[in-house]
Amino acid sequence: MKEVRVAVIGASGWMGKVHTMAYLTFAHFFGTGGATARVAVLVDRNPGAAGELERKVPGARVVQDWRQAVNDPEVDLVDICLPDNLHYEVAKAALLAGKHVFCEKPLADTAAEARELAAIAREKGTVTRVGHAFPRNPVHDRAKEIIEAGEIGEIKLFKGCQHIDVFADPAAPFMWRADGTLAPTGIVGDTGSHVFSFMEFLVGRVSSVIADNFVATPRRPMVKGLTIGEQVGLTGDEALADVTNPDGTNLLCRFENGARGIVDFSRVATGRKFMQTYEVYGTKGSLVFDYDEVNRLRFYTNGDGAGRRGFREIDVGPENSNYRAFLPLPNFALGYNETKIIEVAEVVRSVATNTPMWPTFETGHHICQIVDACMESSRLGRWVDIPKA
Ligand SMILES: NC(=O)c1ccc[n+]([C@@H]2O[C@H](COP(=O)([O-])OP(=O)(O)OC[C@H]3O[C@@H](n4cnc5c(N)ncnc54)[C@H](O)[C@@H]3O)[C@@H](O)[C@H]2O)c1
Repeated sequence: MKEVRVAVIGASGWMGKVHTMAYLTFAHFFGTGGATARVAVLVDRNPGAAGELERKVPGARVVQDWRQAVNDPEVDLVDICLPDNLHYEVAKAALLAGKHVFCEKPLADTAAEARELAAIAREKGTVTRVGHAFPRNPVHDRAKEIIEAGEIGEIKLFKGCQHIDVFADPAAPFMWRADGTLAPTGIVGDTGSHVFSFMEFLVGRVSSVIADNFVATPRRPMVKGLTIGEQVGLTGDEALADVTNPDGTNLLCRFENGARGIVDFSRVATGRKFMQTYEVYGTKGSLVFDYDEVNRLRFYTNGDGAGRRGFREIDVGPENSNYRAFLPLPNFALGYNETKIIEVAEVVRSVATNTPMWPTFETGHHICQIVDACMESSRLGRWVDIPKA
């Protein structure tokens, strides 16, 4: 059996914790058929986190400099859970060192960087993966199956959105996500990229976009070192920092296959703790998903007889092998962390068998092309084309 030795970089942050948990847990659900993983190195620049990391993963080497992990001969897979602006530099160094790379989304700050990473990975023959985990919830396998079977016909329209409200309050403190140097594309790369991953997974490549990015609150009280969801008491004496990337975006798009898209996303939708929906309309039927019912798909088909037409609810269950790995009965529902465990199980299998699985850096590159096109379109105030693959 192959053991995949992993370095998790940014290990004490939100994603670092989730990824580490997933490496430690996935075999419990998916078994060890073919591959196991060992978290060999944990990296975080925060020195205060070292003790906790050592306790969480006994035997792992804990370091502060990511270069030590990337150049470690005892590491097969580099898993990047760092703020967006570091993805490119660290992924490139890891690929050049011959490592397989799993990188959180967005893959890079620009499509040019993402294209370069995909090219290096091709040249080196290493396995890559981007952290677009949401579509790996089994409910979306069912949607894809229905689309590929032609049950909704030719797709004409995709509507998608994702909203949170972490920056809805004008007094919500500044953090790296609002800083255009640390997260140059703001909500577009952060949240838009999730919607774009559904578009790529279910509908196909995007050929052009017109987008309107906006900043809802231009200045926020500065609190250093904050992570998302962390509560902090403001003193009122904080300096104000400029928000230098978008808080929200509304966009229209065209797909290469002729379908059209209407998409919106933001971090300022008061009351929306996590809203994620899509609607896919075809010539014979349609599909609707709402994260509030994360296990459920709504399916309409013209194939139903007159007087029997309407959206039916499809609850995903153990007929899907990823669902069955966790639960023996339908509709108990899989949540966010389980989807990340599915993702990590796929990453480990992918590395162990040297078989790329969606979404690779090629997908990550296309998603970065859409992000770039939104940034450019909003700046220029017109449609922007995306080059074909
Ligand atoms: N796939 C998803 O659903 C999802 C969800 C949240 C975040 N993300 C992505 O994951 C990435 C991390 O986001 P997060 O919310 O976990 O951030 P976070 O701020 O919680 O964690 C980042 C961690 O990186 C560490 N770090 C920063 N610079 C470092 C450096 N130079 N060397 C070593 N460690 C360093 C920090 O100390 C921190 O522990 C982002 O790219 C984000 O877009 C993806």
